[in-house]
Amino acid sequence: MQQKINEITKKALEEISKTQDKQQLILVNSKYLGKNGELSTLMRGLKDVSSEERPKIGAILNEARDTILNSVKQQEDSIENKILEEQIKNEFVDITTPVKPLKQGTMHPIEIVQRDLINYFIEQGFTVQDGKEIESDYYCFEALNVPKDHPARDAQDTFYFDAERLLRVHTSATQIRTMENNTPPIKMISTGRVYRVDEVDATHSPMFSQFEILVVDKNVTMSDLNGTLEKLAKHLFGEKAKIRLRPSYFPFTEPSVEVDATCTHCGGKGCSVCKQTGFIELLGAGMVHPNVLRNCNINPDEYTGFAAGLGLDRIAMIKYGIDDMRELYDGDINLLKQFK
Ligand code: PHE
Repeated sequence: MQQKINEITKKALEEISKTQDKQQLILVNSKYLGKNGELSTLMRGLKDVSSEERPKIGAILNEARDTILNSVKQQEDSIENKILEEQIKNEFVDITTPVKPLKQGTMHPIEIVQRDLINYFIEQGFTVQDGKEIESDYYCFEALNVPKDHPARDAQDTFYFDAERLLRVHTSATQIRTMENNTPPIKMISTGRVYRVDEVDATHSPMFSQFEILVVDKNVTMSDLNGTLEKLAKHLFGEKAKIRLRPSYFPFTEPSVEVDATCTHCGGKGCSVCKQTGFIELLGAGMVHPNVLRNCNINPDEYTGFAAGLGLDRIAMIKYGIDDMRELYDGDINLLKQFK
């Protein structure tokens, strides 16, 4: 009997060690330890063994069962390890492999100029006001001292939704909203898209971007306007830039001026960028008209102010040497990716 047990154990251990996967191991396990397994059968035969022999044989059988079970367990671990190692080998990721660079977008030239100007004015204590692209007649014209029958309205053919609502023709509407909601001193900028019925060509577009500046306080004078704009021109075009004021007309400012900056491409000598004039038209500006202040409940005897509005498209074109405005809106990746 003892010999038989030893033989079975030896055979079992051998077979177990040869198994390659769990399936095979389960089969070998049940061949020896299963209900009708070889060792189980011997165990059932224990009852026929003489009572003196029984404890000894029983102990040997138990030991044999434990040996086989242990071996099965060990083999199971080693099979699992092998599977795991295989998996690790297959799923190996070389983290030192260089990655494909991500394609990064670039900023649109108008956005670059816009953000630069916003930062420039924030540093000087200006607040940034949001405006509305769909405005009412009142904020776009009426409150800005442009009554319904005013001829200045003809200069800007406008996209109307109905008698009252329109796409704003300028960011100046935001001046009114700001003055209505704040008391002086006011130092604000506002920027965004504006709309006019214009044929598209190299210098015109029915949609473009403006940047509005408004300062209202006690004793604000024309020289404050002049100083602010000269500093702005130097910021945009370099320390050598100078400005020139030409008399102009806007219903909402009095006096009104057109402001030109010396051409940075030729230094004022005359070139194709400045159309041989030596100057580049920069913006419209002026002292806030007393009627406009009154419309916002600000006493013009106590407060004065200046306002200016510049076209961002024009600035971007000059700054980056873009000579056709349409290129700003074509969405040509080859052009756009040059800007950072
Ligand atoms: N709103 C004017 C325009 O669109 C520009 C401007 C702004 C002029 C502020 C004077 C003061 O042309």
